[in-house]
Amino acid sequence: MSVHIEKRITEYKLAKDLFSRGKDIILSPKVQVLKTFTQHGETTVFEHSVAVAKYSLLIAYFVTRTLKINVDMDSLVRGALLHDYFLYDWHVKGAAEGLHGFTHPRVARRNAERDFELNDIEKDIICKHMFPLTPIPPMHRESIIVSLADKWCALAETFKIDVSSYIIYRMNYRIALSEGDYSTNYGDTKAEY
Ligand SMILES: [Fe+2]
Ligand SMILES: [Fe+2]
Repeated sequence: MSVHIEKRITEYKLAKDLFSRGKDIILSPKVQVLKTFTQHGETTVFEHSVAVAKYSLLIAYFVTRTLKINVDMDSLVRGALLHDYFLYDWHVKGAAEGLHGFTHPRVARRNAERDFELNDIEKDIICKHMFPLTPIPPMHRESIIVSLADKWCALAETFKIDVSSYIIYRMNYRIALSEGDYSTNYGDTKAEY
């Protein structure tokens, strides 16, 4: 089997895993609003959140298989999808409560608690993801994983490195299907697999 096909299958399975664990959040109209806010470069907050969930899963696969450390995959994905649920355009002056970098984890957690049922791990993931910019360290391994994935995705998005367009494409496809829309244009993927 060529590397190309193997990569395609890996990405497809990853997308399936991500969607099944975060389905209620991904399909929520409240989360669809994240598509209207820009995060880094040309990436929306929705796309960024999906990318962070993807890399969180990849890190979690590695630590469970290689290091034999258990990870709560459901909480990991749900927390990752909601980690930037702050619901404003941080590029607009005055939109944030104080300095966005420091305050948005708290705002995201408050919004997420209002709109979704969250467990302690998910709450910790959201409000600690900016560590060490925010000084209180993560309490769970899932929070450390999401914090690492977030930093990698922010870097990739800022430098326009395409590491997640296929999985974003798959998520938009699933959203379109759930809405019964089989003909909609749900975005492009620049990914080769
Ligand atoms: Fe953030
Ligand atoms: Fe983020």
